[in-house]
Amino acid sequence: MKHIVILISGTGSNMAAIVRAAQQQHWAERLNARVAAVVSNRPGAKGLDFARQAGIATGVVDHQGFDSREAFDAALQAEIDRHDPGGRPALVVLAGFMRILTPGFVAHYAGRLVNIHPSLLPAFPGLHTHQRAIDEGCRLAGATVHQVTAELDHGQILAQAAVPVLPGDTAEALAARVLTQEHLIYPRAVAELLQKI
Ligand code: GAR
Repeated sequence: MKHIVILISGTGSNMAAIVRAAQQQHWAERLNARVAAVVSNRPGAKGLDFARQAGIATGVVDHQGFDSREAFDAALQAEIDRHDPGGRPALVVLAGFMRILTPGFVAHYAGRLVNIHPSLLPAFPGLHTHQRAIDEGCRLAGATVHQVTAELDHGQILAQAAVPVLPGDTAEALAARVLTQEHLIYPRAVAELLQKI
């Protein structure tokens, strides 16, 4: 059985979309995979409640308790890996996980670490993607699922979805439109990747 660990920092709606997809019978049967744990760097992350209610193991590694990124990432890695009998899950899924990861952490999960970013990469890596797309006059915005490399919001693109930017859009309205697409492409991209690894 392939184990997936999902990392969140907040609401966890993408995590919930993946959990719901994984609860479908064909997922377990066809992919032989399950969500083993949801781990957050914020103790109050709303998504942890959803995971608990879904009967999924949860973990918290609060970044505020660490002096360096390296120390935090080492603790995070230990927390992730304890949820797999083999000592390293098949897939680690970043779902609104708002931390920059160290090269050592990324190398440990090479090829099995994915992220969703709320822009059509390579446009708008980093923060405030929706406002930046509006300010630039973009007609299209969207989201990208990609492999994680040591460079922020780079790495092989696995899936994308585009939505229109409408006249008068606010960042919030655009974010909500993009998010509905994220919930569709992320579970699909995770399933496709699981078939290959
Ligand atoms: C999503 O829009 C995701 O793409 C974005 O945060 C939101 C999390 O929502 N991720 C990033 O900005 C990563 N740099 P969620 O917690 O409801 O899934």
